[in-house]
Amino acid sequence: MRRRSRELKAGGRSIAFVPTMGFLHEGHLSLMREGRRRCDVLVASIFVNPAQFGPSEDFATYPRNMERDIALSREEGVDILFTPDRGEMYPPGFQTYVQLEQLPHHLCGLSRPVFFRGVATVVSKLFHIVEPDVAVFGEKDYQQLMVIRRMVADLDLGIDVVGGPTVREQGGLAMSSRNAYLTARQRPAALSLNRALQQAAGMVAGGEREAARVVAAARDLIESFADTAIDYIAVVDPETLEDVPVIDRPVRMALAVKVGATRLIDNLALVP
Ligand code: PAF
Repeated sequence: MRRRSRELKAGGRSIAFVPTMGFLHEGHLSLMREGRRRCDVLVASIFVNPAQFGPSEDFATYPRNMERDIALSREEGVDILFTPDRGEMYPPGFQTYVQLEQLPHHLCGLSRPVFFRGVATVVSKLFHIVEPDVAVFGEKDYQQLMVIRRMVADLDLGIDVVGGPTVREQGGLAMSSRNAYLTARQRPAALSLNRALQQAAGMVAGGEREAARVVAAARDLIESFADTAIDYIAVVDPETLEDVPVIDRPVRMALAVKVGATRLIDNLALVP
């Protein structure tokens, strides 16, 4: 992969990169289109990264379908699909990790303590292998996007990190490979995440400034559905991810909710 990248760059071609864990959906494909628009060559990767799953999480059952992913990547015009295996990425003796000091201590990082260490490590490895000019990540994983932007700045990686807007199913559910776990009966509960965010945006547009009241209303809405367990609902600074009690500037509202056994996340900008 590195040899190919270097050949392409020596020939003056720019490279856009979309890292994924596969089981591609329209969200991933929209990131690929964004990459395509920005560079001469489009590289995507598929690697279900064991380092970002905790011991009780769904690494073993994470949905996979390499044949379908290859076909979809081809249709989207991916020039190179990089699919390393676990032994190549984490050979015996592997012991170097990338860890951010502050951003992981908010939101998802609180209930997924190894997640951002795993993401930062694998993404920096992929960046070193692919050497892209531009990398595209979904805004659905807002904290991940912030972590990667910070890592790229802090480590002087010189890659333009682009955020792609969240793509939603009909009804507003943010697209995610994990949506495949949801049963038909759980779907209305899953839609409550986006409904809660929209309700919050409406409250703020209507003059509400107290984050606690916005969060409480979201909590009430989501808990009105059976089978939901809220991990967090937070109104945070869009850069630092610190809690913001008074919404007197644009903020980000983010939430994580378990619907049955499926953990879903979503987020939205709230603009007073
Ligand atoms: O968002 C994902 O699919 C993953 O966290 C990523 C960025 C590919 C790293 O494994």
